[in-house]
Amino acid sequence: MPKIKVEGGYKLSGDVKISGAKNSAVALIPAALLSKNESTIYNIPHIRDIDYLIEILKLLNCEVEVIEDTLKINTKNLKNKPIPDTLSKEMRASYYFMGALLARFKKVEICFPGGCNIGNRPIDQHIKGFEALGATVTQKKSTFLIKAKQLKGAKIYLDIPSVGATINIMIAATMAKGKTVIENAAKEPEIVNIASFLINMGAKIKGAGTDKIVIEGAEELDNGIVEVCPDRIEAGTYLIIGSLLGKDLNINNIIVDHLAMLLSKLKEAGVEFKINKDKITINKARKLKPTNIKTLSYPGFPTDLQQPFTTLLTQAEGTSIIEETIYESRFRNTEYLNKMGANTYIDKNKLTIKGKTKLYGSEVVATDLRAGASLLIAALIAKGTTTIDNIEFILRGYEDVINKLKQIGAKIELIP
Ligand code: EPZ
Repeated sequence: MPKIKVEGGYKLSGDVKISGAKNSAVALIPAALLSKNESTIYNIPHIRDIDYLIEILKLLNCEVEVIEDTLKINTKNLKNKPIPDTLSKEMRASYYFMGALLARFKKVEICFPGGCNIGNRPIDQHIKGFEALGATVTQKKSTFLIKAKQLKGAKIYLDIPSVGATINIMIAATMAKGKTVIENAAKEPEIVNIASFLINMGAKIKGAGTDKIVIEGAEELDNGIVEVCPDRIEAGTYLIIGSLLGKDLNINNIIVDHLAMLLSKLKEAGVEFKINKDKITINKARKLKPTNIKTLSYPGFPTDLQQPFTTLLTQAEGTSIIEETIYESRFRNTEYLNKMGANTYIDKNKLTIKGKTKLYGSEVVATDLRAGASLLIAALIAKGTTTIDNIEFILRGYEDVINKLKQIGAKIELIP
C-alpha cells in the first residue's frame, strides 16, 4: 500500500492553485444526466471520486470526454441500469444518481453509498424527499429500488439541513410535475453551483443557497454548461498550513466569501493574512492563541475543516475546545496526533486540545479524508520524519496534493 513520507519543519512559500470543489463536482456529474444531450463541466478536480463517477456514467451508456479539467457528458444513448455496490460503495456521492435517474427514468436501483467512516450517515432525509415527490422506496439488504409513476411537486421539510438530501431532492424535483418547496434546506455554496448548472439546462430553481428552495418542474432539460466552484475545504486546509509554516504563501483561485467563518477563526487564533480578490497571502503566525470551535452547517464553521484546524490548535498556547455537532465520530485523527506528541482528549462530542505541544515524526494512519489532512499538516510541522498510511483517503479529496506541497517547499514524497 503506498504511503506518504514527510520530513517536517520546512517553511512553505510560493503559490498554491485551489482546484474545483470535490463536493460540488461529485454532484454536478450525476446532475448532467438530466440533460437530454451534451453537458460541459469545467474545472473538474482530478481526484479518485471523479474517476469512479465517470465509470458509473459509462455503465449507463453515456459518452464521456475528458479534456484536461473539462468533462463533456453526452446522454443521448443513456440507459438505466442497476448501479452495483462495487461502484456505489466507493463514495458517498454515488447517491446523487438516485435523484438523477429518478428524474429521467422514474426508476433507479442502487446500492447504499460509501463514504468516510465518520458516523452513521443514514439517507432517511433523501428517502423522505423522494417519497414526498411520489416515489416508492424499497430496500433489500443494501440495495435501494426507487420507483414512481409520476414525480409530483411537493412541500418538503428537511429534519436537518442535509447537504446531500438538499441536492438530491433538488435534482429529482427539477423534472417533477409542478412546484416543489424544500424548507430547512442546506445553504452550502456547492448547492448554488449545482442549481446554476440545472438552471443553465433550463430548470426553474429559486432560493438555492438559502434555507428555502423553490423548484418548478420541467418536461425536459437541454444541454448545460457549468464551472465547478473553487474547493473551500481544500483552500481552508492550505490556509491552515500557511498559518503554521507560510512565508508569503499565496493561496490562489478562491472565493473569499466561502471561507468567512474559517478566516474569522484564524484571526481569533492570531493568524494574519492579506486578502486580494481571489487570492490570500498568509504567513506563519508569531503566536497562536487558543480558540473554541463549534461545527455547524454553512455558514457555520465547516465540519470538514474541524480535523485540520485541530492540528493548528495543538500549536496554540493554551486550551481549546472543539464541539463537533454534525458527525458522531470525527475525532479519529486525535489518536495519531497524540502519538506525535499532541495533548488532546475526547469527551462525547467535545475535543479538548492543550497546547502548545511539540510534534514529532511518527508512523500514522489516515482513518478518513479530513483526518488524513490533519495528519498531513501535523507531519509538515513535526520534528523528524512521518509516514502516513491509508493515503487513498487523502488522494480522494485533495487534487495533486503531493506536487502542490512539493512546489511550495515541502519535503514530501509518495512511497509506492
Ligand atoms: C456532505 O456530506 C459532504 N460530502 C461532507 O464532506 C460534509 O461533511 C457534509 O456534507 C456536511 O457539510 C459530500 O458533499 C460528498 P449531510 P453529506 O447530509 O451530504 C446526517 C468531506 O470530507 N444525515 O449534510 O453526507 C448525517 O449523518 C465530506 O468532503 C441524516 O441523518 O452530509 C450527518 O450527521 C465528509 N440523514 C449530517 O446529517 C440524511 O438523510 C450531515 O449530513 C442525511 C444526513
